[in-house]
Amino acid sequence: MKKTIDPIEANPLSSLDVWEDDVLERYPDPESIATAKKTEEYRNYDSPVRDTVREFYRLNHKYQTYEFVQEKRAEYLQFNKKEMSVWDAFQFLNQLVDDSDPDTDLDQLQHLLQTSEAIRADGHPEWMVLAGLFHDMGKVLCLFDEPQWAVVGDTFPVGCAYSSKIVYPEYFGANPDYSHEVYSTKYGVYSPHTGLRNVTMSWGHDEYVYNMMKDHLPEPALYMLRYHSFYSQHRENAYEHLMDDHDKEMFRWVKLFNPYDLYSKNPNPPDWKALRPYYEDLVAKYLPATLKF
Ligand SMILES: [Fe+2]
Ligand SMILES: [Fe+2]
Repeated sequence: MKKTIDPIEANPLSSLDVWEDDVLERYPDPESIATAKKTEEYRNYDSPVRDTVREFYRLNHKYQTYEFVQEKRAEYLQFNKKEMSVWDAFQFLNQLVDDSDPDTDLDQLQHLLQTSEAIRADGHPEWMVLAGLFHDMGKVLCLFDEPQWAVVGDTFPVGCAYSSKIVYPEYFGANPDYSHEVYSTKYGVYSPHTGLRNVTMSWGHDEYVYNMMKDHLPEPALYMLRYHSFYSQHRENAYEHLMDDHDKEMFRWVKLFNPYDLYSKNPNPPDWKALRPYYEDLVAKYLPATLKF
């Protein structure tokens, strides 16, 4: 059964960055805790921007069903849409621009480089630097006309009960899976501690980039890519009942990665010209000459 989605409903955010700015408000940098809002303050904070975020989550929670995810996986995980060199792929990603405020937001490549450079500056393994560089490449889904709620937003398991620890859980009430006989139960289609490799996550840029990179990067890097927006687990620990011991071990890496994604943003654009030789070598070491989308 195909669901029709009103295109006017599809994209409430002025840009994808609005979602990330909102996550940053929810999980402020502990090093600048003076400006931190408590969860309750966060929920009650009214502003026109917050209204667009709320609307974005309303759509995300309503439409991310088990069936929807299966459809998107079948469509995108064939990787038969486009083939590009890594550098052309970054150019392609950079077509995602913020119409409302082109001056204050860094482009996508700049966010990726700030993340990877912060990881490199702290002396982490080079494959983690590479994970930083690629973690949001999946946002190209927007350029394939996917709605914002199927590209960004916190991710969560589908096919089992939605946790109340997911942001704006009340919006799941409009999702048909919410009252489904099996999908509404704690374990749904899964068994206790089945391991996240057996769990289907909501569809978005994380799952897409994980699949793009899965033959090329070491496992901890793949966990970082696949679960970097899974805040209800890596921040709230709401899905331990689906994880096995190996997942728990690997989530140390996911947690290590998250602050670099959230807190590395600063107004100074990285010097791409100076950095390019280093990244060209790094990319050539791990990745094929072209990437399939
Ligand atoms: Fe991301
Ligand atoms: Fe990011």
